Amino acid sequence: MLSKGLPLHAEDRHTPAWEIPWDIPLPRAAPFGVHSIGKPPPTLGVMAMNPVKPAPVAASEEAARARPDTLTITDNRTGKQYEILITHGTIRALDLRQIKADSNDFGLMSYDPAFTNTASCISRVSYIDGDKGILRYRGYPIEELAEKSTYLETAYLILRGELPTKAQLEEWSYHITHHTFIHESIKKFLDGFHYDAHPMGMLISTIAALSTFYPDAKDIFNPESRLKQTWRLIGKMPTLAAFAYRHSLGMPYAYPDNELSYTGNFLNMLFKTTELKYRPNPTLERALDILFILHADHEQNCSANAMRNVGSSHVDPYSATAAATAALYGPLHGGANEQVLRMLLEMGSVGRVGEYIRRVKAGERKLMGFGHRIYKNYDPRARVIKQIAEQVFEVMGRNPLLEIALECERIALEDDYFVSRRLYPNVDFYTGLIYQSMGFPVTMFPVLFAIPRTAGWLAQWEEMLLDGEQKIARPRQVYLGREQRAYVPIESRASGKGSRISSPKSEISDSEGAPGSATAPRKEVEKRGILWHKGSFHRAVGQT
Ligand code: CMC
Repeated sequence: MLSKGLPLHAEDRHTPAWEIPWDIPLPRAAPFGVHSIGKPPPTLGVMAMNPVKPAPVAASEEAARARPDTLTITDNRTGKQYEILITHGTIRALDLRQIKADSNDFGLMSYDPAFTNTASCISRVSYIDGDKGILRYRGYPIEELAEKSTYLETAYLILRGELPTKAQLEEWSYHITHHTFIHESIKKFLDGFHYDAHPMGMLISTIAALSTFYPDAKDIFNPESRLKQTWRLIGKMPTLAAFAYRHSLGMPYAYPDNELSYTGNFLNMLFKTTELKYRPNPTLERALDILFILHADHEQNCSANAMRNVGSSHVDPYSATAAATAALYGPLHGGANEQVLRMLLEMGSVGRVGEYIRRVKAGERKLMGFGHRIYKNYDPRARVIKQIAEQVFEVMGRNPLLEIALECERIALEDDYFVSRRLYPNVDFYTGLIYQSMGFPVTMFPVLFAIPRTAGWLAQWEEMLLDGEQKIARPRQVYLGREQRAYVPIESRASGKGSRISSPKSEISDSEGAPGSATAPRKEVEKRGILWHKGSFHRAVGQT
């Protein structure tokens, strides 16, 4: 008999992230903080030290080891020096706050549009080494999971932290399989969509609608409730996706078949017609399962960040998952697979690839399915996907667009534009070709990304909830707008003098001024090893 449901984690929230064991023991004696050199033992806060002692140069390895894990900052506005603790290769942004030009100063902030160099959380779910092309879920290499695991087993691993025993996997699969049905009213929502509505739009809306059916989902700090919503979301995503697809075709909805595997049942709900029992092709069923494994999580990407951000307001997981799905929809993220196929169709033939690449290099287009914020070598998922493509083409016939894709890759991997920017094929470059060969319309491609990513989103969401250090996500801004001014009556407003809307980038980067002054062009300042911040400059320690 299956148990009623185990809590996902024994501990509930308010466990400081630092107290959960890491592989590397945490330096308890060295909490994050800022302190001055030579002052009493570190407590949180800043103490300035003046004058500055030159940093000792370690000659031997032993001396190097003895060096403290700290960063020394000299504030040239005041001449004060600060020492900030470094833990796990990071400093706490909040430690900068206490560095002030004067007592009225708010304190130093870091400016990081698009979070390109900011860790927003501590996570133990996925590990990526972008330079080496490594992706691991909970320590297991993606290639090994793709070869030996199943999507549901991988989802368990991602959410619970360990691979399941046989009994745990049976129970897990049982619960997910028995939560695949959706309320009949969801069909009425779907019926309201136009016949050519994008399936991602329908998916986002129906996921959000699920929150209205499960008010118990608001009990987010109850581990049993979280687990139940997890079964429901992983179970119902393929049903919502398949129903959206059937709606666009005007076909009757095909209900879940509990005897089939997770992906087998999904194929059944998509493609079943008049047969009494749908039997998925085992090669396609397994190929889809591997693709689901490869898409299950990818640390702090745009949609995971959306899940954590929206979830940080303590909204229910359906609303947060709808937000994450919306983030995934964009062409720079999960929507890229759809755009890759449209791009290959636009190229039309191998002979026209060169001309397209020329336009990409001229800045007119992007080569969709290329480039990645983290991977600067090769996306390890793309490598596995290329192998799956061969297996699918053996069953379904070779996709004629493959030759165009291969030519694109060949040119791009040799061309200096792509090589110098370290742009390589990402996960989305070849998935579209596989999906198309399997019979999916292009609009379904991002949906095929969203279904498996649900496991990752939920793991990220739960990790955020259980992390006692997390709060409602609320970044700061650098305000460069107008100072306070008096309201101008309409009859007194000068015509043709609309307010200029300028981007902070242009304001910050392109301002003119004397070298080294607060308004010197950013590029020149960077060349001289000086960091720009908030209208003033801070010479980086150790650089001249
Ligand atoms: N085609 C042409 N040029 C590119 C491309 C591309 N696909 N990607 C980046 N660049 C150029 C970009 O113009 C910039 O050039 P420059 O230095 O001269 O200004 C340089 O490479 C660095 O690009 P970036 O925009 O700063 O890089 P990013 O880390 O902000 O963006 C990316 C990453 C994935 C959004 C981007 O590479 C891109 O738009 N790729 C195409 C869309 C795509 O395939 N997305 C799927 C990503 S993988 C699936 C997922 O996890 O979401």
